[in-house]
Amino acid sequence: MAQTSLPSSGLAAKCGKVEEVKTQEEGSARKPMFDYHGIDQDILQEIAYDALVWSSLHGLVVGDKSVQRSGKVPGVGLVHAPFALLPVPFPERQWRQACELAPIFSELVDRVSLDGKFLQETKKADAFTSRLLDIHSKMLEINKKEEIRLGLHRSDYMLDEQTKLLLQIELNTISSSFPGLSCLVTELHRSLLNHYGEVLGLDPKSIPGNTALSHFVDAFAKAWTEHNNPRAVVMFVVQAEERNMYDQHWISALYNTHSITTIRKTMAEIDTEGELLPDGTLLVGGKAIAVIYFRAGYTPNDYPSESEWKARLLMEQSSAIKCPSISYHLAGTKKIQQELAKPDVLERFLDNKEDIAKLRKCFAGLWSLDDSEIIKKAIEIPELFVMKPQREGGGNNIYGFDVRETLLRLQKEGTDGSAAYILMQRIFPSVFPTVLMRDGICHKDQAISELGIYGAYLRNKNKVIMNDQCGYLLRTKVSSSDEGGVVAGFAVLDSIYLT
Ligand SMILES: Nc1ncnc2c1ncn2[C@@H]1O[C@H](COP(=O)(O)OP(=O)(O)O)[C@@H](O)[C@H]1O
Ligand SMILES: [Mg+2]
Repeated sequence: MAQTSLPSSGLAAKCGKVEEVKTQEEGSARKPMFDYHGIDQDILQEIAYDALVWSSLHGLVVGDKSVQRSGKVPGVGLVHAPFALLPVPFPERQWRQACELAPIFSELVDRVSLDGKFLQETKKADAFTSRLLDIHSKMLEINKKEEIRLGLHRSDYMLDEQTKLLLQIELNTISSSFPGLSCLVTELHRSLLNHYGEVLGLDPKSIPGNTALSHFVDAFAKAWTEHNNPRAVVMFVVQAEERNMYDQHWISALYNTHSITTIRKTMAEIDTEGELLPDGTLLVGGKAIAVIYFRAGYTPNDYPSESEWKARLLMEQSSAIKCPSISYHLAGTKKIQQELAKPDVLERFLDNKEDIAKLRKCFAGLWSLDDSEIIKKAIEIPELFVMKPQREGGGNNIYGFDVRETLLRLQKEGTDGSAAYILMQRIFPSVFPTVLMRDGICHKDQAISELGIYGAYLRNKNKVIMNDQCGYLLRTKVSSSDEGGVVAGFAVLDSIYLT
């Protein structure tokens, strides 16, 4: 598979500016066919078949959970990643708005990460976040400074149907997944529309290009150069079993083009093989580490013993560039998201009033559980809220009547437990007909989508080397499902068709 065939062409968007997007009027003369359930069944089957072949030939794959070793050994038990057969219509205005927000959020994360006191104010959090905060407070005690800071974030949004407002779901600052596979889905959809666009009345040029993978690779290469040790390697911190490993391998495979070695280690292995030299160099298995890329470490499941916590602390103490550092990680927690949405808080971190207004416009209602008015309302009309614990990775949120029950239970138990949750306004995006592909099977359903925009940020002391909007991830899930993870089995990968 030629690595150069990866998506980089087309409607590239850089630094918040989206170039030359072809609108529907200039595009195909026919009215676009967005009622995908109305497509002739024979044509649909043909498209589905072609899509499955394309995915297999181009590495749009994950480990197959029915094959035991598929999460451990590359090349064993591959299946196509779940995807939507055709792209989702998405308004160009809100797409541009989301792209413009990426560098502002990256700047915000950087500023917040420097305010140790602000991050520590969430101390009353749950046990897991408390341990992250302990590491952070140890770094404050020894006055550890991260001079080179690398952030590969993804800000996720839903488009509220009634208000047409683009509202942020969350900002991921650790392990932002799918920079590799999301690009491939964009290419898949373009390829399908090149072939079937005439029949469907859809123009492949209306699917914006996706630069996530090449930007991620570029960011790592630049960070490695800043670190300035030609013998040092980039270390991927991974889970022992990872069915989404190909999304990660797409990043490490491209290192061939930059002549930078990458290694993959679990937290337990880092504990056993890791060593910190007096000058701050981190050695793992005898190799000096330039950049640490976390694709694990965001959930309590990644810390089954003290060994993993020791590894996390060791990495944090080192002079390797961490993507993310403990401060960047904490800046992306849901509690911090809720604190930043309070009046006058953004002003503490950003100077530009226009930027502040842009961020605020995408904030949904967010509340802590010490707000008695909102608790009362959420108990009365729980369907208008989502209750979120301090967790990442999908499957943790509380919806509907469970919100009421959990709030009543926490009220009974006293206040301590409630610091671990936030309340959020429930967003209701438009529902549209979709065709989902999972395990080679085509399935029609009603669906909703969540748009994620990647941001890459690299800074060395006062010099911002990179602050780019860089590609996107669209995830589509059946409208009856509350949660959104792709690997968790709730959603499929998708791309957008600008309208
Ligand atoms: N305010 C909300 N309104 C509607 N759906 C939401 C809201 N917040 C989260 N969700 C759904 O729940 C999923 C998981 O929530 P998220 O905040 O992204 O947590 P996680 O860290 O688990 O990904 C999202 O992908 C989205 O589908
Ligand atoms: Mg999420």
